Amino acid sequence: MNEMNSKKMPRLKIGDLEIKIPIVQGGMGVGISLSRLASAVAKIGAIGVIAAAGIGMLEPDFSTNFKEANKRALRKEIRKAKEMTNGIIGVNIMVASSDFNELSLVAIEEGVDLIFLGAGLPLNDPKTLVLDRLRKIPTKVVPIVSSAKAANIIFKYWARHYNHVPDAVVVEGPLAGGHLGYKKEQINDPNYKLEKILPEVISVIKTFEQQFNKNIPVIAAGGIYSGKNIYEFIQMGADGVQMATRFVGTYECDADVKFKEAYVECKKEDLILIDSPVGLPGRAIRNKFIDDVSAGMKKPFKCSWQCLKSCDFKNSPYCIALALTNAKKGNMDEGFAFAGANAYKTDKIISVKELFETLLLEYEKAASI
Ligand SMILES: Cc1cc2nc3c(=O)[nH]c(=O)nc-3n(C[C@H](O)[C@H](O)[C@H](O)COP(=O)(O)O)c2cc1C
Repeated sequence: MNEMNSKKMPRLKIGDLEIKIPIVQGGMGVGISLSRLASAVAKIGAIGVIAAAGIGMLEPDFSTNFKEANKRALRKEIRKAKEMTNGIIGVNIMVASSDFNELSLVAIEEGVDLIFLGAGLPLNDPKTLVLDRLRKIPTKVVPIVSSAKAANIIFKYWARHYNHVPDAVVVEGPLAGGHLGYKKEQINDPNYKLEKILPEVISVIKTFEQQFNKNIPVIAAGGIYSGKNIYEFIQMGADGVQMATRFVGTYECDADVKFKEAYVECKKEDLILIDSPVGLPGRAIRNKFIDDVSAGMKKPFKCSWQCLKSCDFKNSPYCIALALTNAKKGNMDEGFAFAGANAYKTDKIISVKELFETLLLEYEKAASI
């Protein structure tokens, strides 16, 4: 019996990386997925991801020297994760970060297995930014896209300019948490559902697989919550899935317990779309901070660095990096939690091990029907 017909989850292969469980724990910025969560996931046999966005916010010199603080914190978290596990560790870097090059260099120098490129069109391959000696490091590069058109632009550009293409691609649908790569009116439009865009991306990627004679796995993300969901997307042709929201409800998630409790307590109608100061819609859990801002209240802040290139900080009523840092620390009155559309399904906090046991069982059950 081949793996596709088996009741067990198939392995995910990205180049020479063999991943036992085809699940990527999605990077969650500003301190939600750091070394603790990433190493726990990697230990089980899936891909653990440290998010680089705002990672230096807890360093003492962040307000005066944010680039150095980010680089130092990222290096520290990668090393901590690698001390805790020999499993597969990735780093998520936002293309829109003003220190994208510096953070990519740290991730490559530290020899992470993969770099996931979110929030923007990654026309630059981070590995072309680095010295020859580092180019030999087998770090895989995986863009995150929201459409077949974006995938085509990136792959075509890389093919033309570098004569190679990314190692895999994540397709993130509109039910995801955090910043979304869609216009607000597209989010509930059935034409932009993950089930619709996944096959379109698979078909674009096929042409590049043929051109470069290599397998380029397509990983589905956004609203995938149960083992049954994983089974359904694998049946639709995904090679793996990326999940983030489900990992917030674990002991190992790096956020404060109050952040996790916001997930446990929220209802379906609390998951709303906000206009982020960085010019993209975002999905978050409605709370007093969000209501205050919608009512026109300003939350004073000083921006001495512009962490995201597209941030309209001069006209923004609040600093999103600060609001998300406060939430990470459990100060929910001074910030808010990003969350996927299925966050309301979180009813208790469990261990990463229990979570995987549940997902594997649910998958096998779905595969047996
Ligand atoms: C709290 C939170 C923070 C996130 N931060 C980032 C980030 O920094 N970079 C990124 O590319 N995606 C980010 N995401 C998106 C996830 O990595 C993931 O692709 C998406 O949420 C998947 O959908 P799901 O949460 O329904 O599983 C974030 C999601 C959440 C819930």
